Amino acid sequence: MHPPTDELTLGVETSCDETSVAVVRGGQLVLSNVVSSQIALHAEFGGVVPEIASRQHVRAINDVTAIALKEAGVSLNDVASIAATRGPGLAGALLVGFNFARGLSLALGTPLVGVNHLEGHLHSVWLSTDPASLPDPPLPLLALIVSGGHTELVLMRDHGDYELVGRTLDDAAGEAFDKVARIIGLPYPGGPAIQRAAAEATEPVRLPRAWLPGTFDFSFSGLKTAALHAAFAMARGESADAIRGTSLPKLDIAAELSPQAVANIAAGFQESVIDVLVTKTLNAAASTGAAAVSVVGGVAANRPLRERFQSKSPIPVFVSAPQFATDNAAMIAAAGYFVRTTGATAIEPGLQLAPSRA
Ligand code: KG4
Ligand code: ZN
Repeated sequence: MHPPTDELTLGVETSCDETSVAVVRGGQLVLSNVVSSQIALHAEFGGVVPEIASRQHVRAINDVTAIALKEAGVSLNDVASIAATRGPGLAGALLVGFNFARGLSLALGTPLVGVNHLEGHLHSVWLSTDPASLPDPPLPLLALIVSGGHTELVLMRDHGDYELVGRTLDDAAGEAFDKVARIIGLPYPGGPAIQRAAAEATEPVRLPRAWLPGTFDFSFSGLKTAALHAAFAMARGESADAIRGTSLPKLDIAAELSPQAVANIAAGFQESVIDVLVTKTLNAAASTGAAAVSVVGGVAANRPLRERFQSKSPIPVFVSAPQFATDNAAMIAAAGYFVRTTGATAIEPGLQLAPSRA
């Protein structure tokens, strides 16, 4: 499907709160993928603070690169090309990684490929650390990109050939996980915390689903509000559906909720998100004639989501391995490699992957 080569790509990713550098052979075999997470620095603010992110990328990027090269057992001179995220993402954070990569490229005379972050996520299902089992997802592939910043359905006909099939009209799914976690007093990032809490549920709260019939678009803001109202009612010791108004009296909801109530809200919320994501993605796959489905982005790390896809899908499902699902540089290296070696056009970073059909 692509020219077999041992060519090494150095990937650089700094679009949000992870400083990451990776060395990938032939666009698929991950020799190293070092991720320096800033989560602890941002946790007390309940989300990413852009200025803190940029400063931390500057501090970390040299060391992260040195470790990535050492772990891969290679030197900069062995690298055939450099791939760095150009966007979308936090402007200041992106500048740090991209200019670092540009400096290396100029100093070494090595070609630089600017990668669209979403195109990186799409390529995460081509990655492996095992040379004996490199994945070969068939095309066309219907990809669900589901992260803190994105919830998009993309039909990938080839490397560089994408069609946007559906998207969220408001919050990204990961953002909804983070916000609901905050409401019920769980730590940031909310996704893993909600998954853990949900596993302890005895009676998941029934929350609504936004089906948006006739489209492959998503909406999570109504679900978030419904979770807030359920949490408020349960914090006052009432049944989950007791509150229907929009303005709530002041109450420290998280402090009043029992651990069991937190678990039941977490499970109900998670189930609503999973139901909508899986149902709509599989419908879109059927209607576009996709040969397989992929699930990529931070929320793909959610175990019940992966299991539901595997059990419901009539066609093969490729889910990014957890270390390649959240932001990382190996996926950027993979995208850069495939763009370079298949003659595909790099997608502009500031733009959508492709114009919406709507
Ligand atoms: O792809 P990513 O690392 O960064 C963005 O590009 O946004 O995704 C981060 C998002 C966060 O919202 C986080 O809460 C969510 O992915 N996430 C999860 C899980 N692990 C991370 N959501 C649900 N379940 C998880 N296990
Ligand atoms: Zn991402």
